[in-house]
Amino acid sequence: MIDKSSPVPIYHQIEEQLKTQIEEGTLMSDSALPSEREYAETFQVSRMTVRQALNNLVNDGFLYRQKGRGTFVSKQKVEQKLLGLTSFTEDMVARGLSPSNKLITFEVFPASDRIAKQLQIPPTTPVYEIQRVRLADGIPMAIETSYLPASLIKGLTKEIINHSLYNYVENTLSLKIERATQQLEASIARESETKLLQIDKGAPILLISRTSFLKDGTPFEFVKSAYRADRYKFVHHMDR
Ligand code: GLP
Repeated sequence: MIDKSSPVPIYHQIEEQLKTQIEEGTLMSDSALPSEREYAETFQVSRMTVRQALNNLVNDGFLYRQKGRGTFVSKQKVEQKLLGLTSFTEDMVARGLSPSNKLITFEVFPASDRIAKQLQIPPTTPVYEIQRVRLADGIPMAIETSYLPASLIKGLTKEIINHSLYNYVENTLSLKIERATQQLEASIARESETKLLQIDKGAPILLISRTSFLKDGTPFEFVKSAYRADRYKFVHHMDR
């Protein structure tokens, strides 16, 4: 399994093998890894070499350590294609994950200048502010704060928002969602976010702001999302 005559360093060969096992599911997420000693025997290499490979995999997020318990396999990141305009619910269902929400805020208030500008409405126009933690199979993935013009997205309730906003807009209000513009940037989780997302202080997050438009060009939502960078990756296809 290990080619000692190869110019590829042995620790790197071990890393590659473990990555393949993680990707193929031979090493299942949250399962405990064999000990360094066992790997050293299996691969016929020193424990130092095994440790170096495992350290690199921990640093790259493939494995995580728990004090006194050992080394475990991280959950694989959810891959989000930056292609179609999809909802969180659709994205999770498409991956065979079960979406759920934890509602943090549900209010109507007069739009600030900044929100009004994004939604192309006069300042102080009533808007919903809705903050939800979005979960997949019970694991927090993102915090989403949505601003929606109250006169356009009529009749919203906590019940509705506990399911899918896009489903309500399209299937109950019969409005056609057409396009969105989105910005993505890296950041570090603030304390309030670490609690809601169940991550450590200072953990990396991906910040996304999206303005979405109906078919007639009216903006119907301005959304700020903070995604867990350890659970999410964005994939972009490019033609030339
Ligand atoms: C994604 C988008 C949001 C959008 C949401 C709707 O998460 N980033 O801008 O509001 O989907 O999701 P759902 O229909 O599941 O409420």
